[in-house]
Amino acid sequence: VTSEESSVFPNGRRIIYTNWGRSAVEVVLRSEGLEGGTVMLPAFICQESFEPLFDRLDITPLFVDVEADTYQIDPRRAIELAPRADAAIVVHPFGFPADMDVWTDVSAEYGMPLIEDCVRALGAKYDGRAVGSFGTHAIYSLHKVSPVSIGGAIATDSRTPDTFLDEPTYDARALYHLLPEEWREDLSVSYPREYECRYIDEITRREFQRFLDDKIDAYMQANRKKANRLRSGLERLGFDVQADAPERSHYIVASTVPDRIDRDELLGYLYENLDPSPAKVVWANPWVKSYAPERFQDKYPQTKKLADDIICFSIGSTDDVGALVDRIEEFRTAYG
Ligand SMILES: Cc1ncc(COP(=O)(O)O)c(C=O)c1O
Repeated sequence: VTSEESSVFPNGRRIIYTNWGRSAVEVVLRSEGLEGGTVMLPAFICQESFEPLFDRLDITPLFVDVEADTYQIDPRRAIELAPRADAAIVVHPFGFPADMDVWTDVSAEYGMPLIEDCVRALGAKYDGRAVGSFGTHAIYSLHKVSPVSIGGAIATDSRTPDTFLDEPTYDARALYHLLPEEWREDLSVSYPREYECRYIDEITRREFQRFLDDKIDAYMQANRKKANRLRSGLERLGFDVQADAPERSHYIVASTVPDRIDRDELLGYLYENLDPSPAKVVWANPWVKSYAPERFQDKYPQTKKLADDIICFSIGSTDDVGALVDRIEEFRTAYG
């Protein structure tokens, strides 16, 4: 399944829709022949999607610590490590665009394929061009940025990823959109260790296409406005909010709690006092923590700090930013 047009995807690249973001990653790693190789990736990343995928392909991860403000690898560090890596996964974490000028220079110098992970960065731009335009391939996750319940995508100039994708299945996730609202609430997307690399089903693809055609521009604009308000509220309360950039996306606002706030207690408080609570913890157990427990603290200090203190707010489900900030302030006053 391919689609050529849409300003949020890179211009002129083929878009191949897949059933998961992780299957998109898997097929591009396979299409680059990286089985048995070494792939560089940020230490601050989720375990659930990447560990099973690297296991399946017998790939060794080369973790690199991230920066405290952007949550991403300083690409200059990638230069030191490039001779040891067969490829790099460059994440635009939570929509903050990576410095693709430096990354593409490193990639050219070392002949190292780049996979841009645009999972929460659909519609973000770097230097005026859609993220996903710069790497050898780019991957996306549809359910993280739109109302669909499953789905991923690859943006690429290559035809080989098709070789690794099977026909879609029509299970509960695909049929989700046809279900009555009250049933949908009981069905949530869980993260299976076992997954198959398949094309997306047609029902979900059409639902996502409608979102692209009719909703995404207004959604991104509304998200930016809400995220800016939340950012200033959080900063006033002493939170460190992930760096801003004029062309970043805002599906989620990520921050770290101030020293005197207990992150998990705050989460519980918001869960009790907001319905629904948009607060969640993302990547609190980064893969490197279990992969290299003895080196975690010393070798990946920024990743450790982020994992310990991060709290994220899902902007799409934040209707009332003022009330959210008020509840956080209440908690800080009572328990901070
Ligand atoms: C950075 C990153 N890349 C890829 C994925 C995989 O996406 P999906 O859940 O669609 O398989 C995730 C999932 O959490 C992720 O956080």
